[in-house]
Amino acid sequence: MKIKYILNGREYEVEAESGRTLLDVALIARLNPPYSCMEGNCGTCEALIEQGTTSENKEVSRVVRTCQAIPSSEFVIVNYDKSPTQ
Ligand code: FES
Repeated sequence: MKIKYILNGREYEVEAESGRTLLDVALIARLNPPYSCMEGNCGTCEALIEQGTTSENKEVSRVVRTCQAIPSSEFVIVNYDKSPTQ
């Protein structure tokens, strides 16, 4: 599956191993995404899903905690720049 990240005004397309969270995939790709607790508590890692579904959203235009969200569709667009914490 592929994930497109929008982060600090730039776009990155990354091939993701299934079962990994959106945050894990971004960290492995060294994108330097925002995060803190890694446990779904703080909200630092929140981002807007613009396309696709994850374990945390069944419809698009939803904000998810990327440390908890595992992609469930073949293509996901994750926008950190439009998250409420930015
Ligand atoms: S890093 Fe704290 S909620 Fe995701």
